[in-house]
Amino acid sequence: MAKKTIIVTGGAGFIGSNFVYYMLNKYPDYRIVCVDCLTYAGNLSTLKKALENDNFRFSKTNICDREEITKLFKEENPDIVINFAAESHVDRSIKDPDLFVKTNVSGTQVLMDVCRELNIPRYHQVSTDEVYGDLPLDRPDLFFTEKTPIHASSPYSASKAGADLLVLAYCRTFKFPATISRCSNNYGPYHFPEKLIPLMIINALNDKPLPVYGDGKNVRDWLYVEDHCRAIDLIIHNGKIGEVYNVGGHNEMSNIDIVKLICEKLGKPESLITYVEDRKGHDRRYAIDPTKIHDELGWLPETKFKDGIEKTIDWYLNNKEWWEEIISGDYQNYYEKMYGDK
Ligand code: NAD
Ligand code: TYD
Repeated sequence: MAKKTIIVTGGAGFIGSNFVYYMLNKYPDYRIVCVDCLTYAGNLSTLKKALENDNFRFSKTNICDREEITKLFKEENPDIVINFAAESHVDRSIKDPDLFVKTNVSGTQVLMDVCRELNIPRYHQVSTDEVYGDLPLDRPDLFFTEKTPIHASSPYSASKAGADLLVLAYCRTFKFPATISRCSNNYGPYHFPEKLIPLMIINALNDKPLPVYGDGKNVRDWLYVEDHCRAIDLIIHNGKIGEVYNVGGHNEMSNIDIVKLICEKLGKPESLITYVEDRKGHDRRYAIDPTKIHDELGWLPETKFKDGIEKTIDWYLNNKEWWEEIISGDYQNYYEKMYGDK
């Protein structure tokens, strides 16, 4: 494989960091440059091992900062830019939509403009199945395909949909060499503890209430994060420019079943489960049809949910210092500790 430089934005977050490790491991000759402004969701300690690798560089930069992004992209002259950076939590988007539009829409535009200006040969946008809106619970025969109309429900998904439309418009108008992936819910190591699975694991470990929204019957289609990384790897190397690829492993589960499973695996009582007020506009069901990426790129998920959830729970049990730092807020001083005198 010829040597490449890949810029990964949002690489200090959950999926981006898993992707950084996946790529450093799979392509020891590639240079991986992580661009992340370290919001509350970015944690440099997540990249501790990557920082020891000579082929890895971290740059604390905001994707909305056109000048800094231009400077960095000129310096690195990447072969591929992959945009993971986003505000990613639906509940936060309901409280404060503004930042979601700025980062997710305007940030994407800045990245694409700079790529165009510098003739960077390839751009990939990491999107979500949430742009399709939701499916009813009583129609298990329905799935999202790449042709399903965009029909976003939350400010988060609307901002991701806005970015997708902009990417497709750039492809058409400027022949911008981009691809898009729309993946279902991921789970695995380094998942920020505000999201369902890590929140429930950590609260259960601490014998704290497990807050289930509404009736707990909402369904998500869960994919182990490494399977998502492999899908993106295939798309950036073999995917067709201008195309959208749905990524999902046909693993639908209701929230309440997930929470009960976590209780069982940790030997905690279900009495910790507390039903709380429903999320506003709460999407009922997500379900991906991954036929296209399977047929065109040969992608199939490798990790079964029963194995993935065990690996994930073990990871949280074995990496307490990672999430205890987050819960205590100490991780936000980590950058200062690491880089303060540089
Ligand atoms: P995350 O919230 O864990 O990480 C986001 C990262 O982006 C953080 O490190 C944060 O510091 C960084 N970031 C935020 N704003 C930035 C900015 N303006 N400039 C530079 N960096 C910035 O999110 P995640 O769950 O890893 O999701 C990554 C991407 O994958 C997102 O685009 C999300 O929409 C998409 N996605 C997520 C899932 C999921 O289940 N988590 C599923 C499908 C798609
Ligand atoms: P989340 O992890 O926020 O992902 P998304 O909303 O992007 O799918 O939530 C997953 C599901 O879990 C969603 O239906 C909302 C629900 N949920 C709870 O019931 N309780 C919680 O504390 C959280 C964070 C989520």
